[in-house]
Amino acid sequence: MSRILHRSLRQTPPLAAGGEGICLRDNRGRNYIDASGGAAVSSLGHGHPDIIAALHRQIDRCAYAHTAFFTTEVAEELAERLVANAPAGIDGVYLVSGGSEAVEAALKLARQYFVEAGETQRTVFIARRQSYHGNTLGALAVGGNEWRRQPFAPLLIDVERVSACYEYRGRAPGQSLDGYTAALLDELETAILRAGPENVIGFCAEPVVGATGGAIPPTPGYFRGVRALCDKYGILFIADEVMCGMGRTGTMYAIEQDGVAPDLITVAKGLGAGYQPIGAVLVNGAIVERLRGGSGAFLHGHTYIGHPVAAAAALAVQQVIERDDLLSQVRRRGAALWRLLGEEFGDHPHVGDIRGRGLFMALELVRERADKEPFAPELKLHAAIKDKAMQNGLLVYPMGGTVDGLRGDHVLLAPPFIVTEAELVEIVGRLRDSVDSALKAVAL
Ligand SMILES: Cc1ncc(COP(=O)(O)O)c(C=O)c1O
Repeated sequence: MSRILHRSLRQTPPLAAGGEGICLRDNRGRNYIDASGGAAVSSLGHGHPDIIAALHRQIDRCAYAHTAFFTTEVAEELAERLVANAPAGIDGVYLVSGGSEAVEAALKLARQYFVEAGETQRTVFIARRQSYHGNTLGALAVGGNEWRRQPFAPLLIDVERVSACYEYRGRAPGQSLDGYTAALLDELETAILRAGPENVIGFCAEPVVGATGGAIPPTPGYFRGVRALCDKYGILFIADEVMCGMGRTGTMYAIEQDGVAPDLITVAKGLGAGYQPIGAVLVNGAIVERLRGGSGAFLHGHTYIGHPVAAAAALAVQQVIERDDLLSQVRRRGAALWRLLGEEFGDHPHVGDIRGRGLFMALELVRERADKEPFAPELKLHAAIKDKAMQNGLLVYPMGGTVDGLRGDHVLLAPPFIVTEAELVEIVGRLRDSVDSALKAVAL
């Protein structure tokens, strides 16, 4: 047995030996098409020569300098670029090492923003069911993924919880789309009033729900309504774009497509595209200014914040996305993936919903399409699909608990932005075969 505490303590995964383009290779020479970029990470694929060259240059120049003593050119340039391309009002960047760290920092920045103004009574975050914000204690607390939270629940801060914006399951028969959106916004307003607006710090949500729900986009107008409520009651809007951000949905930030600007945005995954562990919080200028004019410092910090090699990877990723016009490519390939999934799974008896944005798509599996009944959780259909897909040389990101944290299965796809249309055809074909053989093996 391996000495590493792998994700399963009973099984050691295959050894990754290398990767090129959209494929990863194991030590036995088996190739896998990486159709989920791991967990929506590898947006430029594997072994990208420009990113690798940028890493070498930075390591030769300066591999590490502690941020208590120095800044680095590369971190400064990355921050400038992130702010230049960010939604309106974003003026500062806090660089960390991953998604959970970004969410922790955002929660603390939001709290400190009010503490600086003497509003120390503000302690409440509002967040949604079926969301995932990370595995550290603060991020786990705001997350709404029940099976992940349950064992640690006594250690977590209390959070006001509201429904996810999950049209497939949430919109009642006969309810209009606008009516459904209005009901969700009413629920959020009720939660703010229940907690007392003067006690609320902010509302935290994924613009397109990733790991827990499976690429669930918001309904039209939902985030405009969220922004209006946050403004009405003077609370902050934190958009967690760790999974859906950095171009994954066809715009640099997913929330751009909803026409609003958050106060804080967390990003990670696609920021370094897997070449380095890096995350960031993008911060509205008013928050930066209040801290600057108040205590003068964000009361936070880690040893590896602003790491120059991680910053070099993220900067090079940003440059390649711009140089190769990859956001347009995500929109084009996303449209192709949408069409191919519709052709292959549109009439599938056990695919209830196909959804997503850009190259961030998911299938939700159901026992019966008519009543949307999910498969029994004991069947672990999602795990069977993952195994069958790997046997078919395909990496996808299935998850269980889609409906309520316990029931439901979905399969998430997040292929690299460099994927070709022919490769998408291959991915969808292998996925069909994997889904059908998993269904045969465990559920039918
Ligand atoms: C929306 C979202 N937030 C936060 C995280 C946590 O990121 P990390 O796993 O890098 O800590 C994730 C990871 O999947 C995520 O999808």
